[in-house]
Amino acid sequence: MTATLIDGKAVALRLRATVASRVAALPFQPGLAVVLVGDDPASAVYVRNKDRAAAKAGIAARTLHLPADTSEATLLATVAALNADPSVDGILVQLPLPPQIRAQSVIAAIDPAKDVDGFHPVNVGHLHDGRPTLVPCTPLGVMHLLAEAGVSLRGTRALVLGRSAIVGKPMAALLTNADVTVTVAHSRTRDLAAECRRAEVLIAAVGRPEMVRGDWVADGAVVIDVGINRLADGRLVGDCATAECAAHAAAITPVPGGVGPMTIACLLDNTVRAAVARRGQPAG
Ligand code: GUN
Repeated sequence: MTATLIDGKAVALRLRATVASRVAALPFQPGLAVVLVGDDPASAVYVRNKDRAAAKAGIAARTLHLPADTSEATLLATVAALNADPSVDGILVQLPLPPQIRAQSVIAAIDPAKDVDGFHPVNVGHLHDGRPTLVPCTPLGVMHLLAEAGVSLRGTRALVLGRSAIVGKPMAALLTNADVTVTVAHSRTRDLAAECRRAEVLIAAVGRPEMVRGDWVADGAVVIDVGINRLADGRLVGDCATAECAAHAAAITPVPGGVGPMTIACLLDNTVRAAVARRGQPAG
């Protein structure tokens, strides 16, 4: 079998166009504030891309860049000011944060109605309760990709490889809510390869370059590769050995150009949802 490539770039562009037309039809301009603390180069690239994509969709985007030695109290005060600002519909604090700041305290300080990352405990609770509100962007993007690829999920068996709060855990909750039988595997799982082989839908989000090999993939499985890893030679690779896995899978996402572009598209979608929910306009 040779897998169909799931074109995340194309799906993301379509979603961004939909978001832009929804923004154009609103009687107000949604606002997104992105907070970057410190000078991590990868975070700086992510934040710039989010800011640009938001502006392109007609969202009023602003980036607040704070120095690396910012105290937790100063960041909490910044978040409080954004919570109180009526022109701000979405707040995103880029992770990771410097060691002197506890990410959990900052996330918990964000108004849940403006939490476009979906990381606040209230929004996490709603997702796990089966009544999702604002949902983390990367797993939300994976659900969009699966839908666009025509994968019918109900009753299938999925394996989520990775248990992070940003991807693995919310991914498992979204799939469970979609009537999937979900296994969450991680670094302590015994016989990872055997667990993977049982999956009809395999979602890799461990951050280990090309860890998932071809013989870990069941014939006809759908493989979603969330990993983006830069190798010493500069190449970007996913968590799956794509060519090997594609020999078994029915469909697979490439890296780059798979899940990555969906994260930003879903952030824009979340921002408009938050804006409409806060300002009382129909969601469309
Ligand atoms: N760092 C890596 N991914 C993310 C994300 O989705 N949101 C935030 N805020 N920081 C991140």
